[in-house]
Amino acid sequence: MRLRALAAAAACVLALVAAPTLGADTLRSLGQAAGLHIGASVHADALQTDPAYARLLAREFDLVTPENAMKFSVVQPERGRFDFTQADALVDFAEAHGMQINGHVLVWHQQLPPWLEHGDFSREELKDILRTHIQTLVARYRGRVASWDVAAEAVDDDGHLRETFWSRGIGPDYLALAFRWAHEADPQAHLRYNDYGGEGDGAKSDGIYELMAELRRKGTPIHGVGLQIHASLKDAPRASEVRINMKRLAALGLQTHITEMDVMLSLPASRADLRAQAALYRDMLQACLAVPQCRSFSTWGATDRYSWIPEFFPGQGDALLFGEDGRAKPAYDSVRRILRSGKTGYIR
Ligand code: XIL
Repeated sequence: MRLRALAAAAACVLALVAAPTLGADTLRSLGQAAGLHIGASVHADALQTDPAYARLLAREFDLVTPENAMKFSVVQPERGRFDFTQADALVDFAEAHGMQINGHVLVWHQQLPPWLEHGDFSREELKDILRTHIQTLVARYRGRVASWDVAAEAVDDDGHLRETFWSRGIGPDYLALAFRWAHEADPQAHLRYNDYGGEGDGAKSDGIYELMAELRRKGTPIHGVGLQIHASLKDAPRASEVRINMKRLAALGLQTHITEMDVMLSLPASRADLRAQAALYRDMLQACLAVPQCRSFSTWGATDRYSWIPEFFPGQGDALLFGEDGRAKPAYDSVRRILRSGKTGYIR
């Protein structure tokens, strides 16, 4: 009897000692304790070809956004021909690892297929194309994709509605229509608007706020706002402004999210820059933790190896929490530290 009790006690101790290696200290587990989903955008090819990358994603994150796999040109390369190969692989991967999926992106003026961009469509035809596109995607993943970036980057730097393929072709109400169509296809999905450069104070941030207020006033089924936060050390929003901005958006009845954070550094990055980058990640995460309605914190990519930054901003890179080799960077440690102390006292 005594022996069995001893064995049981030993097993308990072992379990306690072993717990950290079971992932108690990963971003996703710390995020769970702090009431926050921790996400990354996923590179479709790397998911297939790089097992270490896939393991890192599953270990550290509990929320994924397809980097390109659900964009218009990938999903509908020809009119009426839908290709879900990459999107299905991502959804299967996420489900196998208990990760939430954020669909990205239903109506955006970039990465449109040539048949659409160079087609000559009437307003009614464009409405029909957009409705079919949105509803085909959302219905396919109904109950599996928890949230959608329904619309993105619809506001320009001055805070006005951006003139785009969609606003020209359908008119400004394309936004409300997109949300309504998405909601019809999956009434449970969390629908959000996603934009960059309007995180802190300023004309763009005011424009986004006004647009959100208007959509809410009209009863549009919109539930959240994503702040992208593509930053550099010279050009980053102030944490206090981000917090205040999130609070005013939350007062409209919206959840808020940090959706695409990265902090590009001049290459090769110095130690001092890596430390400054860590501080910036810390500050943005703290702003999110200070607002009960801020429900997720995502980076645009997971490791520097597959980050979009070097291609789009030559000479820049090193923007994420994990290096080219998948090793954690100072920014990873600072995010973990903040999550560990992230007991906020309220339920998210
Ligand atoms: C980027 C991808 O990372 C690139 O691979 C692609 O070539 C262009 O788009 N804001 C967004 C994302 O919402 O969809 C963009 O992703 C980056 C900026």
